[in-house]
Amino acid sequence: MSLGEAMSEPAGWSLGQYRVLEQIGQGGMAGVYKAYQNSLDRFVAIKMIPAQFDDARDNDFLARFAAEARLVARLTHPNIVPVHDFGEASGWAFIVMEYIEGGTLRDLLVEAEETGRRPDLGRTLELLYQAALALDFAHGHGIIHRDVKPGNMLLRTEDQLLLTDFGIATMLEANKAFSRSGANVGTPQYMAPEQGLPDMAVDGRADIYALGVVMFQCVVGRLPFASETAVAIMLRHIHEPVPRPSALVPGVPPAVEHIILRALAKDPAARYQRAREMAAHLANAIAEIRGMGARARTASLRLPEEGLPPKPVGTLAWPQFSPRGLPGVPGTCLRCGTANDPRHGYCTSCGYELSGRRGSSDHVLLPDGRPLRCQLVLRGGPRAGQAFTLHQDITTLGRIAGNDVILPDPTVSRRHARLYFHESRWYLEDLNSANGTFVNDVPIVRPAPLLEGDEVRLGDLVLEFQLAA
Ligand SMILES: Nc1ncnc2c1ncn2[C@@H]1O[C@H](COP(=O)(O)OP(=O)(O)O)[C@@H](O)[C@H]1O
Ligand SMILES: [Mg+2]
Repeated sequence: MSLGEAMSEPAGWSLGQYRVLEQIGQGGMAGVYKAYQNSLDRFVAIKMIPAQFDDARDNDFLARFAAEARLVARLTHPNIVPVHDFGEASGWAFIVMEYIEGGTLRDLLVEAEETGRRPDLGRTLELLYQAALALDFAHGHGIIHRDVKPGNMLLRTEDQLLLTDFGIATMLEANKAFSRSGANVGTPQYMAPEQGLPDMAVDGRADIYALGVVMFQCVVGRLPFASETAVAIMLRHIHEPVPRPSALVPGVPPAVEHIILRALAKDPAARYQRAREMAAHLANAIAEIRGMGARARTASLRLPEEGLPPKPVGTLAWPQFSPRGLPGVPGTCLRCGTANDPRHGYCTSCGYELSGRRGSSDHVLLPDGRPLRCQLVLRGGPRAGQAFTLHQDITTLGRIAGNDVILPDPTVSRRHARLYFHESRWYLEDLNSANGTFVNDVPIVRPAPLLEGDEVRLGDLVLEFQLAA
């Protein structure tokens, strides 16, 4: 089969248990298709890359593809699109991923351009913050993205971003069809200077540069370097100074400009060295921007009547934003991950004691000596993916302040349920809640032991129970 034929039309094919429905995107060599997985009754997205060229199976590529896909499939992070499966069929290599409904950051930017309005700065920075966390996680696992751009930033909800296409650039590099096409791996508009220079080593700092370009684009409304050809764009990245965002758009906060210019340093050694540093700076900038907004708003806010908890607004009244800290950094809440002033005693978001004293209850240890803990991870809603880490003691769950974990969902009772640790297991107990407590959809009438992966539901709010270190 020639490449031309191989690329004809995967729509309508069956790849094992996946029925390919329609094409949803095409970028460079690879196409993305929506597909239906019979066994699990769900839609998935399948990325198809041609693996056959001049009648021959491209074995080098397939070996590289499988090795890289295996690595990427292990990246489990709330801001990375989960890879379910991968394989090879009829001259194509394919990767099966979660199907994400909400479009991409590119769609947001296009919409902003069309309407002449820039996307909300706080919200955009929050999304880029999540992208930085995803990159830091992948870099820690030895994976460089090399094609960070708005089209690879999918939105599961309005404010949850998931990065996709990890490892694709590396796979494509080994693809004969791709190298003969003369195209470059990566997207020139977002490529760091060292990616355009021969014999320069490329590492995670190239992804930090690309994220800087995305941030520039979100804040300024255009790319820092544009030109007619890929080569001309690369040359500008290598030689031209970055335009100052504040000179192009009045009112860009200095903290925001600082992050952009640092990420866009020509010399990788002058950039953030780890994506987590960039994430921390983004979190500070967000807090600053939101803080200004909050001060402006409080003047016109009426306080609720004494003694009455504020009524939940709409379906969800989650706190607008609490900056995420870095694990292990002083002030970062062990339970909910919020960044606090390290001099404070309690987390401002969930009320957890920051001194870590509660950790003294953790007597059951893992084989490597770390204490066994568990996590409750929010499945849906604007905070999907947020995890609460719990100790080997008693944790109360409810809608109002005074609970260990506050879940401001209108279907959750004020004091809804509690988790307690007994003989190396966590048990879940309902506290006479109005809408009930469920484990894997079964209502619980007496304390129920929880197993890894169990679905816990309080009213309509769904969480997943996981064991953690
Ligand atoms: N997991 C997914 N779920 C839903 N849509 C997706 C998914 N992955 C990719 N897409 C869509 O397919 C488009 C094309 O993707 P791709 O071929 O990687 O090109 P690019 O990254 O250049 O946009 C994306 O822009 C996005 O709209
Ligand atoms: Mg892509």
